[in-house]
Amino acid sequence: MTTDTMRLFLDTAEVPVIKKAFSTGLLDGITTNPTLIMKSGRKPTEVYDELSDMGIRDISMEVVEDTTEGMFREASKLVNHFGDVATIKLPCTKEGLQACRELANQNVRVNITLIFSAAQAILAAKAGATYVSPFVGRLDDNSIAGLQLIKDIDEVFRVQCVHKTKILSASIRYVNSVSQSFANGASIVTMPPAVFDKMYNHVLTDKGLEIFDRDYAAIPK
Ligand code: E4P
Repeated sequence: MTTDTMRLFLDTAEVPVIKKAFSTGLLDGITTNPTLIMKSGRKPTEVYDELSDMGIRDISMEVVEDTTEGMFREASKLVNHFGDVATIKLPCTKEGLQACRELANQNVRVNITLIFSAAQAILAAKAGATYVSPFVGRLDDNSIAGLQLIKDIDEVFRVQCVHKTKILSASIRYVNSVSQSFANGASIVTMPPAVFDKMYNHVLTDKGLEIFDRDYAAIPK
């Protein structure tokens, strides 16, 4: 892990892309979901195995069972196999939060996903979640201010001195949402590789470099 604040995660299951992006040393973890795994064309455990072998220490692995017992069973298998690398991703449902409580009691990291309100984040924190994942982009898609939700959750957590549960800002579409998520109180932002790549860019950096290169070439050597 590069730093404990402003943690950057990639939201993808594409192993070669992850490998390249992690070689920058700027990334801290991975989030996956069934859609991303399906797009990769791979089996979930194959993907997690390769990421874990690569040295990635925090991989969100989503369970697909819909009962508390089923989720707990599926999560336990993942934890037995992947140990501390596994962050169990559970949906914000009654069943998911009950499984979260049981896993948290065993010191397993849980990421409660599909959070769309501060009320849901409160329940997830009460259930012992390590991360809550508000979906910024999907709220914006529905004309609800996604970044405002990050602020609202942060305010509740700060006023109520919630320290264990961190805000993981998810469903990110734009570079600006990364900085704004951190400014609004997220500890982690997960983003598609294309957004991560664009974080480097600014038109004035390109222009400035062009001028420096041109002027350097004009210096007598
Ligand atoms: C969160 O962990 C999810 O994998 C993800 O951010 C969903 O993003 P999307 O709305 O772009 O599918």
